[in-house]
Amino acid sequence: MASDPVANHPSGRAGSGPGTIVVTGGAGYIGSHTCLALVEAGHRLIVVDNLANGSMVAIDRIAELTGGDIELVVADVTDVDALAPAFSGPVDAVIHFAGLKAVGESVEHPLAYYRNNLVATLTLVEVMEAHHVRTLVFSSSATVYGDLDELPLREDAPLRPVNPYGRTKLMQEEILRDVAAADPRWHMALLRYFNPVGAHPSGVIGEDPAGIPNNLMPFVMQVAVGRRDRLEVFGDDYPTPDGTCLRDYIHVMDLADGHLAALDALDTRPGCRAWNLGTGIASSVIEVVAAAERAIGRPVPKAVVGRRSGDAAAAWADPSRAAEELGWTATRDLDEMCRDHWNWQQQNPEGYRER
Ligand code: NAD
Ligand code: UFG
Repeated sequence: MASDPVANHPSGRAGSGPGTIVVTGGAGYIGSHTCLALVEAGHRLIVVDNLANGSMVAIDRIAELTGGDIELVVADVTDVDALAPAFSGPVDAVIHFAGLKAVGESVEHPLAYYRNNLVATLTLVEVMEAHHVRTLVFSSSATVYGDLDELPLREDAPLRPVNPYGRTKLMQEEILRDVAAADPRWHMALLRYFNPVGAHPSGVIGEDPAGIPNNLMPFVMQVAVGRRDRLEVFGDDYPTPDGTCLRDYIHVMDLADGHLAALDALDTRPGCRAWNLGTGIASSVIEVVAAAERAIGRPVPKAVVGRRSGDAAAAWADPSRAAEELGWTATRDLDEMCRDHWNWQQQNPEGYRER
C-alpha cells in the first residue's frame, strides 16, 4: 500500500503493503489489539477515539511495546469538524470500531445508541468521501443474526437483531451496502465478530470494561482477582448438552489478524461483503468457566441463577466464507484465550486505571 491514495487506486487504496490507516475506536478492546497487529505489520496509524470507553494508556503501551508509528486524535467521530483533521494527510484505509456496544444499555437508552452508532458511521463515510478514501473495514457483530435456529450461522442467514444495539449494527451494514452499491469505487468489509475474549500474550493490553462487566470472560476474571464476589451463571435449563448457552469464543488476536486479512482482500475486491469472524466451535458457559479455572489454577466462586433476558440458547459461526475468501482462520483455542485473558488481568487487576 503506497500513500498516494487518489491517484493510484480508485478506492483510495493503492495496492498491498504498509500504509496509513485511520482506526476509529482504536483505544478500545478490539481496536487496541488490532492496532498492535497493524503496527507490527508496518502500518502507520491515526487512532480517533473519544475515550468514552477506551484508554489513552492502551495507545501508549502499544507505542512502547512496538516502537511503531501511532497517533491518537481524541475526537468524537460524530463531529465532522473534529474528525476531518485525521484525514488531512494521505490515508489508505479506515477501520471503524467506534461505537457503543452494551446490549442492556441499548434497551434502556436506545436514542443514545442510534445517535452515536448511526451518526458516527454517516459522518465517517461522508468525511471519507470528501477525502477520496473509499476502503473501509466495519466492526459488525453476530448480534445482527438475532436468535436463529439454523446453526452454524452463515452470512446469508436472515438478519433479525433482537435489541436496539443489534439494530444499529444492521442499519449501519445497510447504509454501507447502499453506499457501495451506488459507487463502485468503494471497497468495504463488514466483519461480524462472534465472542471476542483473551488479550495480547504480553499482558500489556487487554479488556478493561467500565463498571460491572456484561460479558462472561471479563466477569470471571474480575471474580478471580477479587473485584467481584462470585460469577452468576445465567441459566442451566437451556436445550443444550449441559443446559448452559453455547457461544463461539474467539481470541482477540485472531480477530485482529482477521482485520489484516480483510484489508489485504479489499485491495482487489470492490463492493461490500460480510464475513463472519468466529472459530466455528461452540462452547458452553460451563466449559468456558472450566477452561478459565484451569488457566487461573483454582475454582472461581459461582452460582447458577435464572436466565438473562434476551439470551439466545446457541450461536456459533460458519467461518468458511472468511477461510475461502480472506484466507483467514482462527488458530487459538479456548485454553489460550483463557491463559492470555488471565495473564492480562493478573498483571492489571484494576485494568488501565491507577491503583
Ligand atoms: P470498546 O468499547 O472497548 O471500544 C469501542 C471504542 O470506541 C472505545 O474506545 C470508545 O471510546 C470509542 N467510541 C465509541 N463511540 C465513539 C465516538 N462516537 N467517537 C469516537 N470514539 C468512540 O468495544 P470493543 O469491544 O472494542 O468493540 C469494538 C467494536 O466491535 C464496536 O463497534 C462493537 O460494537 C463491535 N463488536 C464488539 C463485540 C464484543 O463482544 N466486544 C462483539 C461484536 C462486535
Ligand atoms: N453469562 C453468564 N454470566 C455472566 C455473563 C454472561 O452466565 O455474568 C453467559 C450469558 O448468559 C451467555 C454467555 O455467558 O450465555 C455469553 O455471554 P456474553 O455476555 O459474554 O456474550 P453474548 O453472546 O451475550 O454477547 C456478546 C456481546 C454482544 C455481541 C455478541 C456476538 O456482548 O454485543 O457477543 O455474538 F453481539
